[in-house]
Amino acid sequence: LQLKPQRPKNFPPGPPSLPVLGNLWNLNMKNPLKDFERLRQSYGNIYSLFLGLKPAVVISEFKAMKEAMVIKAADFAGRPQNILITNLTNNKGVILVDYGSLWRDHRRFALMTLRNFGLGKKSMEERIHEEIQHIIKPLDDNIGKTLSPQFLFHNAASNIICKVLFGTRYEYEDETIKIIVRCFTEIIKIANGPWAMIYDSFPLIRPLRLPYNKTFQNMEIFLNIARRLVNEHKKSRVPGEPRDFVDCYLDEVDKRGDDATFSEEQLTRMTFDLYAAGTDTTSNTLLSGFLYLMTYPHIQERCQQEIDRVLQGHDKVSFEDRHNMPYMQAVIHEIQRIANIVPLSVFHCTTKDTELMGYSIPQGTMIIQNLTSVLREEGQWKFPHEFNPENFLNEQGEFIKPEAFMPFSAGSRVCLGESLARMELFLITVTLLRKFKFVWPEDAGEPDFTPVFGATLTPKPYFMTIQLRENQ
Ligand code: HEM
Repeated sequence: LQLKPQRPKNFPPGPPSLPVLGNLWNLNMKNPLKDFERLRQSYGNIYSLFLGLKPAVVISEFKAMKEAMVIKAADFAGRPQNILITNLTNNKGVILVDYGSLWRDHRRFALMTLRNFGLGKKSMEERIHEEIQHIIKPLDDNIGKTLSPQFLFHNAASNIICKVLFGTRYEYEDETIKIIVRCFTEIIKIANGPWAMIYDSFPLIRPLRLPYNKTFQNMEIFLNIARRLVNEHKKSRVPGEPRDFVDCYLDEVDKRGDDATFSEEQLTRMTFDLYAAGTDTTSNTLLSGFLYLMTYPHIQERCQQEIDRVLQGHDKVSFEDRHNMPYMQAVIHEIQRIANIVPLSVFHCTTKDTELMGYSIPQGTMIIQNLTSVLREEGQWKFPHEFNPENFLNEQGEFIKPEAFMPFSAGSRVCLGESLARMELFLITVTLLRKFKFVWPEDAGEPDFTPVFGATLTPKPYFMTIQLRENQ
């Protein structure tokens, strides 16, 4: 057993490591983002670390990111398989499963289904619009008052994905949804923190009653809810007439006959993954967005002018309208760029021995994408360090999307929910800005943009004053 990790030949450089701990001592586990940046300045855009005894390579800036994720996509498309995650996911689902046919077939199936081909009569857009009405109601009830939008946005994102998956939405006070949210938050907290590394490194303590046991219990609670919903679907479905994602999947199971990779167990795990990936990401982006729109009222007003002009005579916005709204598009993209909601993406792993910018990286090396470095990279953006929609507009005021726009990552593992997320962000932001004006409360001091670090970056809780726009 080698207690002091050694860098293989021609491996990217990095800081000296300690026995057993590796470079964990170089990182503030509560928020390592500043440490990743500091190490980049010392060791360059490709450097290595040891997380305990496991080697990891951190990739920064556009050129290296593109070479790894796009040009050599297959080499970098694995997922590290630590023991807590393997025991938790049972090698099923989609986000954390390794590169291979189960991942590929399920990713393809989910993409097709989410792209509206398979979700039945009601379009994705209609489902989102229905949920928006449930955001508008409490805002309407609070005209002239202040309100914290956290709960509203979170429940809206959660309900949209529940509707897509199960065809159900939950009242904002419903017990089932509260249980789902609680289990999910606790799982992420433990699976992402130091307990996961301890579980991984010290097999003898695994049977002890330590916090990670709670993760397994919470996963079971969520899966039982999902299993119940799947069973209800099995009773009420009409084969070939899917109402939602679960029905589509059950149709696919029928179609594939003996193909055991499409199973009910895999379906329940997949619903967990889609729920987990689609809730906090979208709601935290909305939260950051409205924080910036209140801080820059002239940008909010310019969006509203464009919305009024383009939607004149229409009762609601459609996703197609984005082509006539370059400014709104630029603002939403700029929100995503600056909010940087998933700063380290989801960890990847090399699927074979490969090379990156001249360095050798063996198969099975953990890969950490420093997406922040790309989203703020000097030379890629007109205004890398400030909130400025001009980053996405050309001289004619047309919307342009620079290649370095990577909040969803890039390549084989690029966010599977990107099209749903983009539709949600556009329809929700436009509908709310059309009807209301959002004002930073007078007594709230200065807005604080410092995010709270977790699985995603979350803005600190804040309040907003709701005003009805004059023409509404
Ligand atoms: C993966 C960002 C919304 C489903 C990811 C990754 C990022 C990301 C950075 C990691 C990609 C990689 O490993 O290279 C975001 C952001 C969102 C968002 C910023 C919202 C603004 C959603 C939604 C869904 C979703 C709404 C669900 C429908 C997934 C899935 C994966 C993923 C399933 C794993 C893909 C795979 O491993 O093949 N997302 N996401 N995401 N996202 Fe999203």
